[in-house]
Amino acid sequence: MSQSPILCVENLKKHFVLKHSNALTGREPVKLHAVDDVSLSIHPGEALGLVGESGCGKSTLSRLLCRLVDATSGKLFVDGRDISAMSAAAFSKSPLRSDIQMVFQDPTESLNPRFSIFDLIADPLRQLKRPKNRAEVQARVEAAARSVNLPLELLSRFPHQLSGGQKARVGIARAMVVEPRLLVLDEPTSALDVSVQATVLQLLDKIRHEQGVALLFVSHDLNVVRLLCSRIVVMYLGQVVESGATDPLFHHPAHPYTRALLSAIPTLREGARRERIKLDGDPQSPINPSGTRCRLYGRCPAQQALCNRVEPELRTLPDGRQVRCHFADAPAPPETAPAIDPEITPAPLL
Ligand SMILES: Nc1ncnc2c1ncn2[C@@H]1O[C@H](COP(=O)(O)OP(=O)(O)O)[C@@H](O)[C@H]1O
Ligand SMILES: [Mg+2]
Repeated sequence: MSQSPILCVENLKKHFVLKHSNALTGREPVKLHAVDDVSLSIHPGEALGLVGESGCGKSTLSRLLCRLVDATSGKLFVDGRDISAMSAAAFSKSPLRSDIQMVFQDPTESLNPRFSIFDLIADPLRQLKRPKNRAEVQARVEAAARSVNLPLELLSRFPHQLSGGQKARVGIARAMVVEPRLLVLDEPTSALDVSVQATVLQLLDKIRHEQGVALLFVSHDLNVVRLLCSRIVVMYLGQVVESGATDPLFHHPAHPYTRALLSAIPTLREGARRERIKLDGDPQSPINPSGTRCRLYGRCPAQQALCNRVEPELRTLPDGRQVRCHFADAPAPPETAPAIDPEITPAPLL
């Protein structure tokens, strides 16, 4: 891609300190490695999917990318400008703040019930863009409502008077009103019924096409990500384990964890058979991880002795994808290749 990324992070870490070190007792600090050495970039107009099971660090990474929390270490560039040294509080006052907007998981929880829909959408505008007068606020709020297909008569209502799908649209309108270049969406449809989910996904695809806004779409649902995103990042226990273009990743997943995730997607075609790969065993703890073994060790169907001694690094395969596995070059076991029935192609969103 020729354009420079809107957002680029290098070696980003977020370690939550659960217990501080104690010099008297000699106790080491107890740290939960929620995000551990993540690097990624998002280009203008691109839809990037971030997937992984609950607790792998998706929400923490989303908040780090929006500078809602401070990183433990690592670099963060917005439009090529290094903002790593800027505190979350300073960034919230910077003009770059409106370039990246977050849409939260549960619209019911994230919308203040005492505000009208108009004021909820106007709020980020008033805070970040300093509009000249009331007429400008009115025009921008209405434009944002139209961009998410929210009927203007709903603007005078309150959150409890709206359906789940309408509240999800309000959440997106609140982000769109400041004309961002990147929307970070943390499981934006997980609280919605399946039919409503589909219309919200169509809406996001439309916004991306018509307004050129890039999307970072966070989900534990691979089918949703496949429909919307051209590139996918798979996380496991705070780390990126695989990332690459959607189609090759779905047809020939290189990492055993990606293979297991994909094998869990139900297939619709009659007679189609796909072996479900179960990850037996307990996941390792994200607290003070060993650093000398693979984080999937103990659950991985392809593990070998080396995996218990040396933590694999993220490396680039000849097809350009990145994978964190010592044995990713080895051919996939026959029952897992291809992981996706090639006859099931996702329906276009529009
Ligand atoms: N404020 C916090 N303090 C301590 N641990 C946290 C905090 N927020 C998240 N975590 C832990 O960080 C890990 C990643 O959580 P999260 O980012 O919410 O994952 P996901 O969104 O993928 O479910 C989990 O183990 C979670 O318990
Ligand atoms: Mg989450």
